[in-house]
Amino acid sequence: MFFITLILDFLTYTSISAENSFVCPSNFITAESGPIGVIPYGRVGLSVIPALYDCAYNFYVYPGWALHFSISTHYDQLLGDNITFTDSLGVVHILITPNQHIDQWSSAPSAILHINTISNTSQMFAIYEFVNIAKKYQHVLIPTGEYFSLGNMKNRYYTFHSKDKDRVALNIAVKNTQDYDALLDFIFVYDCGDVTNCRMVARLSNFLKRQKYSTSNNITIVNFYDVKSPSYLIGNDFSKIVVFSKYKAILTSRNQRTTGELFDASDQGTAYTWICSDCQHFYWTVLKFHKSKTNISKTYIELRPLSPTYNTSTLLNYTMSSALDSYFPQLIPARMFTMINHYSGIAVTLDTSLTQSMAEKWLKPYDGRRGTIFSPSLWDPFTAPAFSFQFEDRDQKFMFGVNVKDVRISATGESLTIKTGPTASNNFSYKEFVSESTDYWTRREAKGNFMQISYDGWDRNSMAVVSFDMKQINFKKSELTISMIIVICFYLKFSNFIYS
Ligand SMILES: *[C@@H]1O[C@H](CO)[C@@H](O)[C@H](O)[C@H]1NC(C)=O
Ligand SMILES: *[C@@H]1O[C@H](CO)[C@@H](O)[C@H](O)[C@H]1NC(C)=O
Ligand SMILES: *[C@@H]1O[C@H](CO)[C@@H](O)[C@H](O)[C@H]1NC(C)=O
Ligand SMILES: *[C@@H]1O[C@H](CO)[C@@H](O)[C@H](O)[C@H]1NC(C)=O
Ligand SMILES: *[C@@H]1O[C@H](CO)[C@@H](O)[C@H](O)[C@H]1NC(C)=O
Ligand SMILES: *[C@@H]1O[C@H](CO)[C@@H](O)[C@H](O)[C@H]1NC(C)=O
Ligand SMILES: *[C@@H]1O[C@H](CO)[C@@H](O)[C@H](O)[C@H]1NC(C)=O
Repeated sequence: MFFITLILDFLTYTSISAENSFVCPSNFITAESGPIGVIPYGRVGLSVIPALYDCAYNFYVYPGWALHFSISTHYDQLLGDNITFTDSLGVVHILITPNQHIDQWSSAPSAILHINTISNTSQMFAIYEFVNIAKKYQHVLIPTGEYFSLGNMKNRYYTFHSKDKDRVALNIAVKNTQDYDALLDFIFVYDCGDVTNCRMVARLSNFLKRQKYSTSNNITIVNFYDVKSPSYLIGNDFSKIVVFSKYKAILTSRNQRTTGELFDASDQGTAYTWICSDCQHFYWTVLKFHKSKTNISKTYIELRPLSPTYNTSTLLNYTMSSALDSYFPQLIPARMFTMINHYSGIAVTLDTSLTQSMAEKWLKPYDGRRGTIFSPSLWDPFTAPAFSFQFEDRDQKFMFGVNVKDVRISATGESLTIKTGPTASNNFSYKEFVSESTDYWTRREAKGNFMQISYDGWDRNSMAVVSFDMKQINFKKSELTISMIIVICFYLKFSNFIYS
């Protein structure tokens, strides 16, 4: 319908006779002679191309503009007829036999429609339109370090911009279940922040295969074809990526279990940014080293908040040990984090379930278990510090050990609370207040059926990190009854006390 309207508009100010309709223009066709046109001139619909016709329609596209072609054909290449469209990158798109309709775009500066016939039976019709990009699309800046859904580009074009004046490295993030994304062919990459000041350098598919980074602190993508790719892109500051031997991004979404086989043989490490497109947490459930691909004495796996651009420091660090399994599951309260492997071949599983059963697995004590609890604010400064977890087993008693590794209380009334005791339903405990003078860094141990660790507060500058361990205690029945009365619990409160 859109094109029919355009054609009618066009016909109101065009009147070239049908006989001359396949004359071959000797000059470049530009937006100056009208933003919209048709081939053959003056026609509406498929038209027979004369025999032995050989004409290149040369288009000149002004900077900041693009050319849209819609071509319909009914012809036979076996008769020696040939219709091709060459875009600004010099890529030739051949229309193949027998009935075809293609929609193609070219960026500035030029494009060629080449029609070449032997027979007198081929038919074609094309309509073209010059589009001013800045007029048709709204321009949006995305800071480096962040990811972006390619399914969400309608009426806008996007520039990845490095605030630190670094070059921009683009990486695709695809799900591990996703096949190669053919739609990346339809997204144009301009190597600058303003489509009028530079040329389109590649289609996104090729850009990601070959060049991967910009020459300035901006890189721009435009989706003329309006395709909805399922992939995500992440832009990073180039200098933060080159320190690794390799860099990749892995996409997941809520209620997915993602497994990865990740390999690295270097000291710099290979970095993998994990992205959950619509959730705020990952349960890391499996970490297995493949012994044959791992240098046991040198390997370690680091986890850092967000993407490399943010230059965050390591919050979790694992080496190969016999007790490795006892660190899992481990909750990572983040929408995005970066895992860096050194000298290892590993299998990992990350689960983004929102289910009750996954939460129960995370909160289930077992003998020998270790882990760390973090404020989400530590993984992403735009989230709150609050958390509350109760690890509990009504049937078994544990010696719970906790180490407050770091805490920063930035607002009055906020507190970190750690309680252990008999099952919660017994509802008795005593609280221990820890003040400024107390050495809260010391390790504490207490026996019980449950351990509750929570941070109460909303200031985004606040945070707490607590590591824990658990040992099962094998009491006889009688001892268990007695020990129920000895409630061991403590409560840490830091008020009006600000650390930096
Ligand atoms: C059609 O034209 C293209 C480009 O000019 C050329 O590569 C191709 O071989 C031609 N095909 C035929 C069947 O002539
Ligand atoms: C098309 O070509 C064929 C053979 O080359 C010829 O017989 C026929 O008359 C032509 N038709 C037209 C409409 O020119
Ligand atoms: C990159 O884009 C920003 C925002 O549009 C602009 O201010 C800046 O001048 C651009 N940098 C270069 C080198 O073009
Ligand atoms: C592991 O690292 C050590 C120390 O650098 C080195 O001597 C050894 O050859 C490495 N082993 C393998 C299998 O790469
Ligand atoms: C990145 O972090 C490291 C260590 O925390 C620091 O030495 C370095 O200066 C930081 N780089 C930038 C560009 O902020
Ligand atoms: C992680 O552990 C390894 C091995 O113990 C160590 O070499 C590395 O420095 C640690 N990384 C951090 C950031 O602490
Ligand atoms: C538990 O204790 C609190 C406060 O001490 C009280 O309000 C609550 O009713 C008690 N719950 C049960 C089940 O006894």
